Amino acid sequence: MQKLDFQFFKTSADYVKSIIKDEPDIGIILGSGLKDFVSRIENPVEIRYKDIPNFLVSTVESHEGRLVFGRVGEKKVICMSGRFHHYEGYPFTVLTIPVRLFKLLGVKKTIVTNAAGAVNTEYNVGDIMIIKDHLKLTGASPLEGDNIEEFGPRFFDTTDMYTKELREIALNCTEGSPLTFREGVYMYFTGPQFETPAEIRAARILGADAVGMSTVTEALTAAHCSMPLLGISVMTNMAAGVLDRKLTDEEVGETASRISKPFGDYIEKVISRL
Ligand code: HPA
Repeated sequence: MQKLDFQFFKTSADYVKSIIKDEPDIGIILGSGLKDFVSRIENPVEIRYKDIPNFLVSTVESHEGRLVFGRVGEKKVICMSGRFHHYEGYPFTVLTIPVRLFKLLGVKKTIVTNAAGAVNTEYNVGDIMIIKDHLKLTGASPLEGDNIEEFGPRFFDTTDMYTKELREIALNCTEGSPLTFREGVYMYFTGPQFETPAEIRAARILGADAVGMSTVTEALTAAHCSMPLLGISVMTNMAAGVLDRKLTDEEVGETASRISKPFGDYIEKVISRL
């Protein structure tokens, strides 16, 4: 793999800029089963990941790989339909690519969504959790290796990684939605296996409200390059061991498609207020 220096990222951004010719306000990364949102983007300009130099191609079947630029209401958005995960075999450092592309395109705020398992037993399947903070105890970081000063400093703060101002806006958009909203802590597990019941008990003791296999790499990249971030999890299932049955990917997909319409309505409202 080529060295990930500033020029590496700039090459992708220059290509995308040559096509969209406009600066997006908001970057959006859609989670598993939540890609329906893309159809709400007006006047879409689509770029396939495989056409972008130095970009990645997603391998998970439920993730189609394209970048979509257009409008949602008054806002110009750029949306990643198809996401990259460490469990697909990507090293953590290449998982910086999407958010750094957003940064170089001039995106001012990023929204990341994901499907997650509910660890907090007061939560229900179908609930939405605004991410307040995260736990990642897996050691490796997307920001390891040579630091790229153009994006941010070697050692960087993560206190306000899930930007308070954006969380407040998100929590003020819930009225009128049929969904139930929470604010909580997301814990990252690498996957692709779902967690064990013992891991979920440990996660609960540590303060996790939900678990998932994405988002934290993008959140850390955003914190490094001072990109305001809003993280939103959909509780697609109760986490392992909460109920006396096995977890399946079908359950995750079914919940995501069931709430797709009200979730999309909610995200649209949040975008209009950001
Ligand atoms: N664990 C990890 N990732 C997930 C889950 C889960 O229970 N549900 C959806 N994504």
